[in-house]
Amino acid sequence: MNNEKLPIHFAPLQGYTDAIYRSAHARIYGGIESYYTPFVRIEHGDFRRKDVRELDADNNRGVNLTPQLIASTPEKLLRILSLFIEKGYKNVDINLGCPFPTLAKRHNGAGLLPYPDEVKALLMAAIEAHPEIHFSVKMRLGWEDANECMALLPFLNSLPLSHITMHPRLGKQQYKGEVDLEAFQRFYAECEKPLIYNGDLLTVSDIENISNRFPRLGGLMIGRGLLANPALAIEYQQGEPLSPQAMMEKIRLLHADVFSQYGNLLEGGEQQLLTKMRTFWEYLLPDGDRKAKKVIHKTSKLSNYQAAVSNLLK
Ligand SMILES: Cc1cc2nc3c(=O)[nH]c(=O)nc-3n(C[C@H](O)[C@H](O)[C@H](O)COP(=O)(O)O)c2cc1C
Repeated sequence: MNNEKLPIHFAPLQGYTDAIYRSAHARIYGGIESYYTPFVRIEHGDFRRKDVRELDADNNRGVNLTPQLIASTPEKLLRILSLFIEKGYKNVDINLGCPFPTLAKRHNGAGLLPYPDEVKALLMAAIEAHPEIHFSVKMRLGWEDANECMALLPFLNSLPLSHITMHPRLGKQQYKGEVDLEAFQRFYAECEKPLIYNGDLLTVSDIENISNRFPRLGGLMIGRGLLANPALAIEYQQGEPLSPQAMMEKIRLLHADVFSQYGNLLEGGEQQLLTKMRTFWEYLLPDGDRKAKKVIHKTSKLSNYQAAVSNLLK
């Protein structure tokens, strides 16, 4: 039995863990070692304006933030890195795990894992150009085959990485099927860098099972489990669940904060605000009142939305 609590990192989820959500979560819940931005990429030769705004320190107050990038070539990677450095970041995460086919087929994310020479060129370019930056890598077992990560591991062990985060699925699986804990075990056994486990941790007992099975882990990263229960990290750290009243009160605060900030950002665009809030509710409270959730997902009227939220948070 391992009684030490591991640090919990909030996984990046494109469309969900934006700056407004991250800072509201940090303020209302806490319990998170660090938050990661969803990946920043070069699209049609440039950055997306939203990605740049999301990196501003002013939009991330109270959040220990690591920006993440995805790139297929050293040139693109170095351009994104310059942006992160200009914004003052000292830690940078490199995505080798994204399974989206359109990106993966162009050798981005998990689509790069079958090409160890390209991975090496990418990581070496980053480390040689910026030895002052603490780099980490977020990856999967491989694209086709779990041997891909094992082929890369001696090289990864030789780099000055702050840590490696492993989501033990293959790229071609997307998010389907089970996580492969045996393949994770093989990687864990030979990984000399602090290793962070990521994947399908939904409850405190899921967290404890993984931390007992892999006692040398450097931490855990959680995405969808925290979107569903934003108190998951704090419940694990404190060793007891929040009371139902405290749970509802905190969700009320989180919702009020996020709702008002999206409202300001979207300057009165009611439909845009409702779309944004639908995303907010997508994973949250999976056992919440089904009728109220249906209204939230369907309605185009703010008054119906607000009535449904009051029902859900009764
Ligand atoms: C909608 C969605 C968006 C995601 N966006 C990113 C991303 O931008 N960068 C990244 O490294 N991983 C991304 N991921 C993967 C998550 O960070 C995480 O690795 C995955 O969800 C497994 O962890 P979980 O089971 O705790 O959610 C995304 C996953 C989902 C479902």
